Amino acid sequence: MNFFTRLFAGGSSVLGVDIGSSAVKIVELSKKGSRAKLETYGELSLGPYAALQIGRATSLEAARLSEALRDILAEAKARSTRCGVAVPLSSSLVRTVEMPALGKELVYAVPLEARKYIPVPIGEVSLEWVALPAEGVSLETPLPGKRLPILIAAIHNDALTKFESVIKASGLESSFYEIEAFSAVRSSAPAEKGAYLLCDLGAGASKFYFVNGGIIQSTYIVSRGSQDITLSLSTSLGITVNEAEKLKRTAGLVRGAGPEHVEEIISLVLIHIFGEASKAIESFEKKNGVKIQKIIFAGGGALLKDLIPLAGRSFEVSVELANPFSRVESPAFVAEVLRTVGPAFAVAVGAALRRLEED
Ligand SMILES: Nc1ncnc2c1ncn2[C@@H]1O[C@H](COP(=O)(O)OP(=O)(O)OP(=O)(O)O)[C@@H](O)[C@H]1O
Ligand SMILES: [Mg+2]
Repeated sequence: MNFFTRLFAGGSSVLGVDIGSSAVKIVELSKKGSRAKLETYGELSLGPYAALQIGRATSLEAARLSEALRDILAEAKARSTRCGVAVPLSSSLVRTVEMPALGKELVYAVPLEARKYIPVPIGEVSLEWVALPAEGVSLETPLPGKRLPILIAAIHNDALTKFESVIKASGLESSFYEIEAFSAVRSSAPAEKGAYLLCDLGAGASKFYFVNGGIIQSTYIVSRGSQDITLSLSTSLGITVNEAEKLKRTAGLVRGAGPEHVEEIISLVLIHIFGEASKAIESFEKKNGVKIQKIIFAGGGALLKDLIPLAGRSFEVSVELANPFSRVESPAFVAEVLRTVGPAFAVAVGAALRRLEED
């Protein structure tokens, strides 16, 4: 297809961009009727851009990040420049607060209330909020004595400025910057209704998103992630970090697939993370009076072989892997690969899906 037919075809493609701590991921989608069609996707480890090993969390400046983004755009042969970008939860804040049902007055009251929860001056964040569904109350009508749950989402302006410069320097144009939690939930919600936990196992951190009625109600970050498995394998077995990373990816938790103690070392890190998840579940259930029905695992850390059996033994509810590409049409021969790598692309697919909806 030449440039002009692509431009005027109406179905020109869009990109979802996920700049994580250990890797940058892109997903390019186009419209095919009412469905999304996969054009291309790709992932690049950031470790080497920070003189670190693959799989390690980094904190790179904008110039290096855009270098990596340009590299993966070229490698994946992405054609679109129109994108949506996911911003790390670590530079954001998501909270539910109960506000008096003041009707339209809330437009002024919520930012004032938000100050109490945001640990930096309110001028340093970009604030968005939405009223959560609640029986008998609405945003429009004031109801004395009644309270309304409000979801507050704030992104640190410094982080926004940084990501804007990364996107611009990469020749892209973003129509939105959204907190990665929202992207992940968009692509990876389970088929069934009910409250669930989406658990994003990243490199340096694990992120928990509690979703009820399709809406995120609270989020947690635990500063332990898949790189801790690698580091633990490296010190416990006396092997290099690169060897440990390879071992983690090839053997995982498959019984007998690696040297002695591998499963034990890997399990220890995960059991710590799962323990934190269990505590978070308990407090969420208590606070909201709902039961979590399911746990869904996303993020590169969820690609660990035989993660699900261990998770199944650790939680009382059913557990499964995210399958974000199931919402996207793709050639049959890549379907298997997409199912395998899918969890790692939950955020990028979610951002791309939102960008596609805007067309
Ligand atoms: N096949 C695999 N088996 C086990 N672990 C893997 C596999 N592939 C990637 N990982 C691990 O997943 C981690 C990266 O996950 P992900 O790509 O979700 O991180 P990120 O988005 O960069 O991090 P964060 O979301 O915390 O910023 C790395 O530590 C990497 O070692
Ligand atoms: Mg991530």
